[in-house]
Amino acid sequence: MEIQSVGIVGAGQMGNGIAHVFALAGYDVLMTDISQESLDKAIALIDRNIERQVARGKVTAEAKTAAMARIGTTLKLSDLGPCDLIIEAATERETVKRAIFEDLLPHLAPHTILTSNTSSISITRLASRTDRPEKFMGFHFMNPVPVMQLVELIRGIATDKPTYEALKAVVVRLGKTAASAEDFPAFIVNRILMPMINEAVYTLYEGVGNVKSIDESLKLGANHPMGPLELADFIGLDTCLAIMNVLHEGLADTKYRPCPLLTKYVEAGWLGRKTGRGFYDYSGEVPVPTR
Ligand code: CAA
Repeated sequence: MEIQSVGIVGAGQMGNGIAHVFALAGYDVLMTDISQESLDKAIALIDRNIERQVARGKVTAEAKTAAMARIGTTLKLSDLGPCDLIIEAATERETVKRAIFEDLLPHLAPHTILTSNTSSISITRLASRTDRPEKFMGFHFMNPVPVMQLVELIRGIATDKPTYEALKAVVVRLGKTAASAEDFPAFIVNRILMPMINEAVYTLYEGVGNVKSIDESLKLGANHPMGPLELADFIGLDTCLAIMNVLHEGLADTKYRPCPLLTKYVEAGWLGRKTGRGFYDYSGEVPVPTR
């Protein structure tokens, strides 16, 4: 099946990046969120991010105008019903995702492929609560979506071959690379990345290093583009904690226990860049380490 129209649920960090790359690849995009303010912010951000690509000669001004014209927004989840493909990119909480699917299901066209950008939750379990487990998949983008090359494709136990092949073709049209992962907690990228981030928080918690020395060590000593604490702030500490909890509960191994300091930061509402404070303070010109 040729996919042309794409509905995106959630206009946050992942949703707006996903809308950006689909619109540039020529898809018709309809994005929804619970507030008009979030939608307006997302459109302004997509405009700014595509403009960065225009400034660097990666995208033409005409392609930008055409892409922006392909993105529509709505506050009504039901408007996404007729889309060929739906990508849920809401908060990383199973209850939230389930509620969205429940509201969406009565409005879906029979052919619609339903996907979740979840970074860790069981695809098989999410699929089982819908009317189309065979047309349900994990479709996991990396942040920042316009820059990162990888998309993880996760089949639930019931996902059929045409659905998998259709999404593989979408990844090719986006100019990205697919990696197939089995449906086990946190799939591939986060199964490996999150324990590293969690260990960095333990390293801070135990006083082995401070924010600056930990991040510099990994940047200069292991050639990572960002230090693990900087990356945690970038991803969102609530998301990091949610993924660690999925690993801890799903694999029942104490090696995945979330660092108490990570939990405390989330309890404080210090969620990283998006709230202006995490392991760094973002209120000034340059991020300042807080420990
Ligand atoms: N939209 C468009 N372009 C963007 C962009 C965006 N949102 N963000 C960055 N860019 C572009 C810049 O314009 C720049 O382009 P050129 O190469 O043409 O110069 C390029 O990306 C690099 O950006 P910067 O020069 O601003 O900054 P940088 O060199 O420090 O790179 C970074 C920024 C790409 C984010 C880099 O630091 C990096 O790769 N960090 C690690 C990111 C990572 O690990 N992501 C995965 C997170 S895990 C995940 O997402 C999974 C999950 O489920 C939690």
